[in-house]
Amino acid sequence: MNAFEPDFSHLELNRVTSYLVATHHSFARDVMDDISTMLQNVREEQPVKEFAAIWDSFKAKMNAHMDEEENILFPLIDEIATSDDPHAVMKNAESDSVLSEMISQHDHHEDDVHKILELARNFGPDKTDSARLHKLYRKVVQLYQDLHEHLELETRVLVPRLLEFKS
Ligand SMILES: [Fe+2]
Ligand SMILES: [Fe+2]
Repeated sequence: MNAFEPDFSHLELNRVTSYLVATHHSFARDVMDDISTMLQNVREEQPVKEFAAIWDSFKAKMNAHMDEEENILFPLIDEIATSDDPHAVMKNAESDSVLSEMISQHDHHEDDVHKILELARNFGPDKTDSARLHKLYRKVVQLYQDLHEHLELETRVLVPRLLEFKS
C-alpha cells in the first residue's frame, strides 16, 4: 500500500469508488491527453515510432474501460454499499456477464501498461538528447506509476471486497 493513501480495506466501498474517479481516473485522462498532444510533433521520430504505433489504441482502451467502470461497475458497487440486502443486488448483477468481463479486463491491463513503459524507454534520458522526448518520457512514467497504483487498488481491494457479496 502507498504510504500516502488511507486504509482502503475498511473504507466504505462507495467512498473508494468516488476516490478512484476523482483521483486516478481523472489523472489518467489528463495525462493521456497531455501525452497525445506531446506526441503530435514527434510521432515520426525514430525512437518514438513504436510507442506511437500502439498509443492511440492503448488510450482508447483505457478510456473505454474507465467509462465502463464509471457507468456500470461503480454504480453497482455504490448500490451494494448502500443496500440493505447487498447479496441480492450482487446476485442480480451477476447474471449480467458485463460485470465479469469488466473485472477480467484488469488481467490484460498490467501487460498493456508494461508494454507502454517498455516502448517509452526507447526515448528515455539514456537513449536520446532531445528535451522534448525527455518530457514525453517523464509523462509516460507518471502515467505508468499512477496506473499501477490505480490497478492495485481495484484488483487487490475493490474487486475482492465486491466479490465477498457473491456468496
Ligand atoms: Fe479504474
Ligand atoms: Fe479498472
